[in-house]
Amino acid sequence: MEKTRTFPLNAWYVAAWSHEVGRRAPLARTVCNKQMVFWRKSDGAIAALEDACWHRLLPLSMGWLEGDEVVCRYHGLAFDGKGQCTRMPSQDRSNPSARVRSYPVVERFRFVWVWPGDLALADPALVPDLHWNDDPEWEGDGTTMFAKCDYRLFVDNLMDLTHESFVHATSIGNKHVAETPMTTTHSGRTVTSTRWMPDIDAPPFWRTQLGKPGNVDRWQIIRFEAPCTIVLDVGVAPVGTGALQGDRSKGVNGRVLNTITPETDTTCMYFWSLMRNYRLRDQSLTTQLREANANIFIEDQIVVEAQQRAINERPDQALRNLNIDTGAMRARRIIDDMIASETQTAAA
Ligand code: FES
Ligand SMILES: [Fe+2]
Repeated sequence: MEKTRTFPLNAWYVAAWSHEVGRRAPLARTVCNKQMVFWRKSDGAIAALEDACWHRLLPLSMGWLEGDEVVCRYHGLAFDGKGQCTRMPSQDRSNPSARVRSYPVVERFRFVWVWPGDLALADPALVPDLHWNDDPEWEGDGTTMFAKCDYRLFVDNLMDLTHESFVHATSIGNKHVAETPMTTTHSGRTVTSTRWMPDIDAPPFWRTQLGKPGNVDRWQIIRFEAPCTIVLDVGVAPVGTGALQGDRSKGVNGRVLNTITPETDTTCMYFWSLMRNYRLRDQSLTTQLREANANIFIEDQIVVEAQQRAINERPDQALRNLNIDTGAMRARRIIDDMIASETQTAAA
């Protein structure tokens, strides 16, 4: 029997940052166990093909770009952005059946999204909303973490922020996060967990961002969109200035954008950025926040990679759930349902 997949195929996944895909060299990425090669054509559109030459399967990413085509390093076959072989240097005519699989691509929110599943279902309207990443009213930056773990361990991690109190005790965590309960709702492919911490002392990171003494009202609103995108709406405002009632204008607002693409069952690419709606066009703050957040996320990476190693050693042992895992359990159920419906469709 085929091993159960850990990810759905009919979904948009981030394969790269926009700036990583250029016209000088092909880029190799693995998404959902599929090796892919990406490049940018002269009209700015991005091509994505299976990263294996039709002839002898050499990865096309080892080749080079000529105009809008990728050329195989081994015997020089050229392929256009649709995967059609356009040139066989050692014979007069190219074989029209020589082609490699191409994948649908959408470039949006500074990311390159690819659809590894059924072509007919690749609807660009299904790209998760990460508009903060290129909205002029927001500012920020991020990077990519390549991690040796099942992408769902990061979903668990982000859906339960009580870990901040322990994993990130020196930056964003304090006891209030672990001690304040969340409310969780869900609909369709999304899960939302909300935690308000009224009248607390601000943790060091937020104290600095706010730049004011005194207690704060703090919020964390976590929105998961299946299978692997999570937006954290986070911030603090001076206590009693209306944030709880919906006016956050006296506070500082952040959005942590996270999308974690499975490469394989036990490795992933974690794309993130930290956006803010204050001190716009302040590049030194952008860099400083990106570096600070990268250090915070390394703390998560150490934990989840160690967790993955422990899971590998005990493949039959279940992970257990606490109240804090409500959001993660719901998210995993949506992922499981997506995989199950794809498996049933395939069987039918
Ligand atoms: S393997 Fe690519 S041209 Fe021969
Ligand atoms: Fe964390």
